[in-house]
Amino acid sequence: MIHSSIINEAYAVLNEAIIHHNGQAIGTVAARDKTLSASNYNECFIRDFFPSALVFLMDGRHDIVRNFLQAVLQLRSQQQQMEGHELAEGLMPASFAVTAENSETASLVADFGDRAIGRVAPVDSAMWWIILLRSYSIISGDTSLAHSESFQHGIRQILKLYLKESFETSPAMLVPDGSCMIDRRMGVNGHPLEIQSLFYGMLLSAKELLLNNDINQPLLVMVRKRVQTLRSYIRLYYWLDIERLNEIHRYNSEEFGWDAVNVLNINPEIIPEWLDGWLPNDTGYMVGNVGPGKIDFRFFTLGNLLAILFGLTTDAQATKIMNLYEAHWDKLIGQMPLKIIYPAVRGDEWVFMTGSDPKNVAWSYHNGGNWPSLLWTFTGAALRAGREDLARSAFDITMARLPQDSWAEYYDGKAGSLIGRRANLNQTWSATSLIIANRLLDDPDSLAVFETMVF
Ligand code: GLC
Repeated sequence: MIHSSIINEAYAVLNEAIIHHNGQAIGTVAARDKTLSASNYNECFIRDFFPSALVFLMDGRHDIVRNFLQAVLQLRSQQQQMEGHELAEGLMPASFAVTAENSETASLVADFGDRAIGRVAPVDSAMWWIILLRSYSIISGDTSLAHSESFQHGIRQILKLYLKESFETSPAMLVPDGSCMIDRRMGVNGHPLEIQSLFYGMLLSAKELLLNNDINQPLLVMVRKRVQTLRSYIRLYYWLDIERLNEIHRYNSEEFGWDAVNVLNINPEIIPEWLDGWLPNDTGYMVGNVGPGKIDFRFFTLGNLLAILFGLTTDAQATKIMNLYEAHWDKLIGQMPLKIIYPAVRGDEWVFMTGSDPKNVAWSYHNGGNWPSLLWTFTGAALRAGREDLARSAFDITMARLPQDSWAEYYDGKAGSLIGRRANLNQTWSATSLIIANRLLDDPDSLAVFETMVF
């Protein structure tokens, strides 16, 4: 195991974040910042636990991951049914807390978005859970957990919810604003890329986890088909490079019927000014969101990186995304990897899109802030695309600063040089991200965990 003193410090942040229930480690809190006022950062978030789990799997601490997977599955029973609604049985909580951790009456309390700021339902949670279940099964060799009746039933319930027909005209998944890592209003409603990437990874994982029996058969047929249609759709409609930008720029609109070229009726006027000159040859990326009359041209880091990691992009597209990082290093990596969205929205656009959210002013937090927690995905994606050089550069920048800044949650500013105005310190996924990046780059044995996410 590679352990510099900085990595030891990161481990200390992780180990202090572990929470217990009935004497067993079952998760990690989002942040251990003693200066925090009322907040839910002392809860275990499903998405934040994912990188913690990868570290535990790399270190052979499989039990914590197993306990977590079981606990979250059971927590679904706490979901409250709203009057006049059906229960969404496949929904998993955004986070959970242990009440009175050291007493005998300690219990787990889940939040399905019903307590969260803005009351957003976490669409990403169940998808992270299934992807983690596959990594756990492969690395620990324990397939009995995923094959147990309660887990098979749970996977079926999730798939039924996520594959349920609603008002779709495309294979992409439709969600409300703020239903994933960006969990406040940021114009990520509709068909955001991060959700589509996770959906793809989740479907591929579920396909392997579900036993091939009579009950599962109809779902397996749907899953296999949806993987194909989703992949083709994203690779075509979300992909943007200079050729595609030129096509869109010269689109005709108001086409009707089967022969339409501009099927989503995109008006070229929506192309933002900053894109002209932003896409050198041999670069490209997946746009943030696509819908009727709509392309969100902003660059969303997590969606693009997960698309590379899970193989939702072609190899050529992955190479071009990495070339884009190289071409815009100062903007997309900056003084603290990595920019969460580029560019920020400001002025009236900020008013309408965020609801005048002061935490999300331009170049801060979700609106163009820099998040060290994204480093592990960048490292994984860069390695998959054969760009270890870029992964090492981003790692070096993070190592030089993040520990001194006490494992800050996020950074502000165009270049990401300022510790976020309202950032927590000792943010668990900032520390775990650095540990994973270090292991992926310097310990070939750890690559096995990363390969569980490469399809
Ligand atoms: C913020 C982030 C969210 C994260 C949570 C806990 O709400 O937007 O993605 O899960 O903090 O760290």
